[in-house]
Amino acid sequence: MTSATNEPKTILLVGASRGLGEAMAASFLEKDWNVVGTVRGDARTRLHDLANDHEGRVTVEHLDITEPGQIAALRERLSDRRVDILFVNAGTANHRQDETIAETSTEEFIRVMVTNALSVMRAVEGLQDLVHADGTIGVMSSGQGSIGNNTNGGHEVYRGSKAALNQYMRSYAARHAGGQRAMVLMAPGWVRTELGGPAAPLGIEDSVPHVVDVLIAQQGRPGLRYLDRNGNTVPW
Ligand SMILES: NC(=O)c1ccc[n+]([C@@H]2O[C@H](COP(=O)([O-])OP(=O)(O)OC[C@H]3O[C@@H](n4cnc5c(N)ncnc54)[C@H](OP(=O)(O)O)[C@@H]3O)[C@@H](O)[C@H]2O)c1
Repeated sequence: MTSATNEPKTILLVGASRGLGEAMAASFLEKDWNVVGTVRGDARTRLHDLANDHEGRVTVEHLDITEPGQIAALRERLSDRRVDILFVNAGTANHRQDETIAETSTEEFIRVMVTNALSVMRAVEGLQDLVHADGTIGVMSSGQGSIGNNTNGGHEVYRGSKAALNQYMRSYAARHAGGQRAMVLMAPGWVRTELGGPAAPLGIEDSVPHVVDVLIAQQGRPGLRYLDRNGNTVPW
């Protein structure tokens, strides 16, 4: 099914409890989109506040992307809905950002890689059928996922996990070549969130509105692109 032009558009936003994801939900609402946003656990989040403030336009769903059963259950719960954009924002960083890859514990390597690469792709694969045939599938990558731009090192597990995510999206796009969907790997810039930390040069308001504009602009443009918040291609 392709999207109808006269109906309100909907984004399924995975990882919308706080940080960039919650701000993206707010930004899409400002543009009159409806939001199906996911959180983990039962605690009240900022997405719940958005749902209160925008009656009937926000559906709060539950998903831990590292639990394949939860992805299948969400797909089932949403089986009657179709969305214009699926965007998987959920991600994590390594706790000790200065350690080299060889110094990283096996547990930490697995945690970051499983969350940022394997689980994001499982969410894409598991939820893709909810997206209109001419809709958009996006994931939150990072400039740090760029191999070409890695001249300084640092954040090694995190970089590797986002580079792996980029590679897996290339494979996904290759498998769906000829399809109508736009696919996006988004690099939002270094932003002050819990993950980005207080030293980041950008506030959420400097990044998210641009990220949202770039995502919306991809609608109807088939194929995979690795883009920054200004819509420029990031070197792979
Ligand atoms: N901030 C930056 O500078 C920056 C730069 C480049 C890319 N990014 C990427 O942008 C995304 C959002 O980052 P952020 O800065 O907003 O970080 P954040 O404030 O730490 O938020 C992370 C979000 O991901 C969710 N999440 C983490 N693990 C999850 C899981 N297993 N299942 C479902 N949701 C999960 C969190 O949910 P809970 O509330 O339940 O923990 C939260 O909503 C990440 O993918 C990150 O790698 C950030």
